[in-house]
Amino acid sequence: MKLGVLISGRGSNLKALIDACARDDYPAEVVSVVSNKPDAPGLAYARNADIPAKVINHQDFARRETFEAAVDETFADAGVDLVCNAGFMRILTDSFVDKWRDRLINIHPSLLPAFKGLHVHERVIEAGARISGCTVHFVRTEMDEGPIIAQAAVPVMADDTPETLSKRVLAVEHKVYPAAVRLIAEGKVRISHERVILRIGGETESSAMFVPPLP
Ligand code: GRF
Repeated sequence: MKLGVLISGRGSNLKALIDACARDDYPAEVVSVVSNKPDAPGLAYARNADIPAKVINHQDFARRETFEAAVDETFADAGVDLVCNAGFMRILTDSFVDKWRDRLINIHPSLLPAFKGLHVHERVIEAGARISGCTVHFVRTEMDEGPIIAQAAVPVMADDTPETLSKRVLAVEHKVYPAAVRLIAEGKVRISHERVILRIGGETESSAMFVPPLP
């Protein structure tokens, strides 16, 4: 399965995907990386791995639609099957989301549907939540909504700061994102009535609340 990855910044989830793809038995490869920010540090991970990486600066486009048309064209030219948002900080229009429907996924640093949006770790601590985590989900037009593919949970410690919590969550993000992509690439993910049905080892798992075996 050919992956196109959209980034805006650090790119540690991109790196996790690139590292997973380097393994012999991994059923996907990153064929194209696009950043909407010219100075995104994550671009270096793609370049170091000889993956075509392109800056498509949203500020160069008067309209969101034309920016997205450039992204779409880049991924289509590269033969992308699945688009992975990895810290991509632009809202995508309904038309892009519909075009890539069920072939566009995102990772969010909370246990969705809790704590959608920005400043997640601050809000988790502020709320006194005891458990947090991350979610990989198909993208729908509403922000941080869509069928859930995989989640992992981590504890929130009494003395956590947003930085320490973010570090703990990020460590599981780097395992769950490649695991979720593997499930999709192996044809084990199906969507029914906007919930993910997973087929693992011949068994059908009807619940989307599934934590995959971590690699
Ligand atoms: C991650 O926490 C991800 O869940 C969120 O943005 C952050 C991106 O980090 N969507 P990175 O750029 O992958 O290091």
